[in-house]
Amino acid sequence: MAPLLEVRDLRVTFASEGGDVHAVGGVSFSIEEGEMLAVVGESGSGKTASAMTIVGLTRARSARIEGSVRFRELELVDAAESVFRRIRGAEVAVVFQDPLSALNPVQRIGNQIVEQIRAHERISRAEAQKRAVELLARVGIPEPRRRARSFPHELSGGMRQRAMIAMALSCSPRLLIADEPTTGLDVTVQMQILEEIDELRRELGLAVLLVTHDLGVVGEVADRVAVMYGGEIVETGDVSEIFENPMHPYTWGLLGSIPKVDRPRTRRLPAIPGQSQSVEPSREGCVFARRCPHRFERCDQAPPSRLVQRSAGHFESCWLTLAEKRSRRLVNGEFGLVSGPESAGRDVG
Ligand SMILES: Nc1ncnc2c1ncn2[C@@H]1O[C@H](COP(=O)(O)OP(=O)(O)O)[C@@H](O)[C@H]1O
Ligand SMILES: [Mg+2]
Repeated sequence: MAPLLEVRDLRVTFASEGGDVHAVGGVSFSIEEGEMLAVVGESGSGKTASAMTIVGLTRARSARIEGSVRFRELELVDAAESVFRRIRGAEVAVVFQDPLSALNPVQRIGNQIVEQIRAHERISRAEAQKRAVELLARVGIPEPRRRARSFPHELSGGMRQRAMIAMALSCSPRLLIADEPTTGLDVTVQMQILEEIDELRRELGLAVLLVTHDLGVVGEVADRVAVMYGGEIVETGDVSEIFENPMHPYTWGLLGSIPKVDRPRTRRLPAIPGQSQSVEPSREGCVFARRCPHRFERCDQAPPSRLVQRSAGHFESCWLTLAEKRSRRLVNGEFGLVSGPESAGRDVG
């Protein structure tokens, strides 16, 4: 059976006065029904451009979109806006980072959900109101009947984000695309919300594409991870593989940035040096070469083959041999201490 969502060699290029910006330089991934894939990479790596393009929200005139996006075997890359309008909200729901920009400030939360429900379904107002309260309860909002009467500004950041998710779920989508849904919230709340999403996924059989810059938060909820850098997926695999047996130096760097439970918090977290950048048009070598501490001549001369298989379902793109990786990982002691999802991201913030 075909996956729920299948993205093949997706490219998103923005034409600008300074030349083309290759925001997404050819990414491929798929999501099965009920599965959670986390797309992780630092700011500017092309996560949002990928996610928005999938649902037809990359509307800039300067954007050139190539490749294939199939949702339930329906090709979306050249689809008309009417097709996207039918799919968005009903079959694919999107949650953005900033709920304030997506919520109407002068309308009560409950009413916004009611309207969302009634825009897609013919049910009575009373019935929709009942469903709205149920949805608020389901995403972990206490006293949902009372909160339904709140305006967005009366809710905390975490509650607003939950309200957004409730709204997204109002039409029982098959796929939830959540772009940095918890960024800016404190870590306890982040984890609660992600666990809530995870539970919904199990209860409703919902597939989730979770976009985040924080590898630390995905360990406990995602099934698979795709690590993005410079518009490309440089490594992908089951979440346990990515945490226990990471292969790409960029992933090592991301894991090195995850604080460990047994380390005092006062220390600054190690950052990966350099600036993340979109693919340069003239680039000949590996997308990560300029910032890679393990770079050698070959890395500048030619791109490593796209996604070499390292184990079942585990792919990466890098010129280092397995033996070289093993020895360098040991030298890179910072990273060597990371023991797995259990220790990751629990103590930040
Ligand atoms: N509408 C646009 N016009 C020009 N460049 C854009 C546009 N949207 C995004 N970009 C560029 O594409 C790259 C990827 O951006 P984005 O997908 O937002 O990254 P991320 O979500 O991973 O932080 C960045 O270099 C960004 O500046
Ligand atoms: Mg983004």
